[in-house]
Amino acid sequence: MPDRAKISKAVIPAAGLGTRMLPATKVLPKEMLPVAGKPLIHYAIEELVASGIDSIILVVRNQKSLVQSHFERDLALESSLESRNLAAAAEELRRLSDIVNLQFVEQHQPLGLANAVCCARPLLGGESFFVLLPDVIMVNADPVARQMIQVHASRGGSVVAIREIEAKDVDRHGIVEVEHTTATASGAAVRITGLVEKPSLGAAPSRLGVFGRYVLEPAIWEAIEQTAPDARGEIQLTDALNLLCSKNCLFGLHFQGDHYDAGDPFGYFRANVDLSLCDPHLRQPCLEYLSRLQTSDALTLGK
Ligand code: G1P
Repeated sequence: MPDRAKISKAVIPAAGLGTRMLPATKVLPKEMLPVAGKPLIHYAIEELVASGIDSIILVVRNQKSLVQSHFERDLALESSLESRNLAAAAEELRRLSDIVNLQFVEQHQPLGLANAVCCARPLLGGESFFVLLPDVIMVNADPVARQMIQVHASRGGSVVAIREIEAKDVDRHGIVEVEHTTATASGAAVRITGLVEKPSLGAAPSRLGVFGRYVLEPAIWEAIEQTAPDARGEIQLTDALNLLCSKNCLFGLHFQGDHYDAGDPFGYFRANVDLSLCDPHLRQPCLEYLSRLQTSDALTLGK
């Protein structure tokens, strides 16, 4: 029987090395990089809270992580803001610690996404749960996590977010093989029959990439236990899902919404431009600046 209990817990892996964003991520965890004034981790938490999640487990590199400090109260900073008549800013910081129930666990070594998820297992009980990779920002009025939780509620099984990608991006994603189907419209859920982590274009079973969002049933634990490490010694969630889908239902949801791979320099730039344009205070100056850039060769960068 599928486990269709409400999904109330989520795991955010935040212990990666952020190699694509070095040197910015040498000291600063990738999840703390700001996009339009807010760290990536905020977008992740807001999407989960808007999707009905009430308990989030952050997997961090160590308990002294800046991600953890970011969500702790800082009484000295709050009172110093208040004494400077910045009560609204102080209140905003205070609210950070109340957004949702947050717990932190450590991943001691970078042994892959499936290993990171396993670090949270003692806090998940036997429930189905959500996994969200915070470097993928999703923007949609109906949050992508909620769309996926609805697929799980109506059809059972585990669910991953999928979207057609360009040939050049195939080797940067988990790629799925789906049951013969014509259901490719956004909003459609299709049965997955196999997955490959970051294949070469020639070896890819399709152009449908996995996008950092997963609803996982407890059967994933046994699949992870049976998954061999890859050539780099990492245990990939994609490989565990490939085992899972031979015995259990796994759906791919052609999600609705815009996505940004903010863990990559160009995706990060795009996210900053688009989300700044959504800010009513920044929209007009940004548009004016971008159109000046397009129509003049004024960008000399000091030359
Ligand atoms: C991870 C997953 C990969 C997925 C990608 C984008 O890779 O392993 O299957 O397609 O996220 O969500 P990463 O980008 O962390 O290397």
